[in-house]
Amino acid sequence: MGRTIELAPSILSADFAQLARDIERVQSAGANLIHLDIMDGHFVPNMTIGPPVVASVRKITRLPLDVHLMIEKPERFLDEFIRAGANWISVHVEADVHLDRTLRYLGENGVQAGVAINPGTSLSSLEEILPLADYVLIMTVNPGFGGQKFIPSSLDKIRRLRKIIESNEYHARIEIDGGIGPENLKEVIDAGAEIIVAGSAIFNAQKDASEAVRELRRIAERQTRDIETS
Ligand code: DX5
Ligand code: ZN
Repeated sequence: MGRTIELAPSILSADFAQLARDIERVQSAGANLIHLDIMDGHFVPNMTIGPPVVASVRKITRLPLDVHLMIEKPERFLDEFIRAGANWISVHVEADVHLDRTLRYLGENGVQAGVAINPGTSLSSLEEILPLADYVLIMTVNPGFGGQKFIPSSLDKIRRLRKIIESNEYHARIEIDGGIGPENLKEVIDAGAEIIVAGSAIFNAQKDASEAVRELRRIAERQTRDIETS
């Protein structure tokens, strides 16, 4: 089946005063994307960064920037994030009542169009727009903070989405975000995840961030080989 796993370190858990150093570490260790968490204090109970920081990160890495918008009415800010250099943008199904328009707009502007979904939201809310999505970001914790515990029922949700995508031959890929680390990476890949976001498991690990990326890569490669040969 030849599934490729991409690793997307979330800089939420990086040292913001040493962002260039931290990004360089994960980039040289083979990260595929840089995941940036945008929070507005309304959609989620936390605030983080906006377009200026995305634009600064754009200057220091060649990796695609995966921008996860945890903000109300994300359609208001699409142009700013596109101008800042976002390559992938996900908006939450709970935050945007005009998802069809948003996903089309992202595609027309050369951006990978993603839809993110909270743990408490049913996959059925994606039914109409799934054909338009380049990826679905399944939240495996409640969004807002790094370092939370993976919600076990997410595994079944990933499996069910994988089935829906395959049986309809949609092109959407599955990204997962929250509580992922070496201890559960095998399980989430088995369930059907393809793009793995990890924050604290990379930047707050006992080991260096680059070693943490390499370890996740080793687990991912072993697992995709096992899937292919099974
Ligand atoms: C949480 C964010 C995540 C966060 C994940 O709302 O969307 O991207 O950085 O952090 P960990 O991997 O520590 O759960
Ligand atoms: Zn995120």
